[in-house]
Amino acid sequence: MRFFIDTANLNDIKEANDLGVLDGVTTNPSLMAKEGITGKKKILQHYVDICNIVDGPVSAEVISTDFKGMIAEGEILAALHPNIVVKVPMIPEGIKAIKYFYEKDIRTNCTLIFSAGQALLAAKAGATYVSPFIGRLDDVSTNGLELIAQIRLIYDNYAYDTQILAASIRHPMHIINCAEIGADVMTGPLSAIKALANHPLTDLGLQQFLADYAKGNK
Ligand code: G3P
Repeated sequence: MRFFIDTANLNDIKEANDLGVLDGVTTNPSLMAKEGITGKKKILQHYVDICNIVDGPVSAEVISTDFKGMIAEGEILAALHPNIVVKVPMIPEGIKAIKYFYEKDIRTNCTLIFSAGQALLAAKAGATYVSPFIGRLDDVSTNGLELIAQIRLIYDNYAYDTQILAASIRHPMHIINCAEIGADVMTGPLSAIKALANHPLTDLGLQQFLADYAKGNK
């Protein structure tokens, strides 16, 4: 399973990258705004800065909602760096744009996926990744993990190349459950990635080993 970090915070991206387990980055306009990155010029530069830290796919989202606008924006984003993946919303104009980018060999991440039907359409259009938002489904009393399992089954039935990028990950159990189901990638915050390492018995065991070593080496 590949690990992407879902943030526009350069410190978090560096910290995850330094762990040696980071495979890519996803961002969205809300995450950019959270870091105070506003205005076209600053946003484009921020994508380049991220690409200079992580050697892997970096999702950069279009904000147009019409086909022409998405194409124009996506081409600018894709030209920024070879690692850029153009993030396109799951709306009819977005499906057309994904097909267009597919034919141009530009990789896409179809975002805001909340149903299996949407994931099927995105795969048929040639999306490189689909991003089902599991945390936001959980927020409205719908099991986000069940959607991941449904999409896995459908993609396997027809051997679609589109990769399942489990998004809106909130905690380590989301990551573990997505790995069990067979999501290709997960994207989550640094806190969820780091939490995977925690176990009280590890801390206790290490404390004991160090204490015993110290006793024997007085
Ligand atoms: O990758 C999608 C993600 O940014 C949404 O996460 O926590 O805002 O639902 P969240």
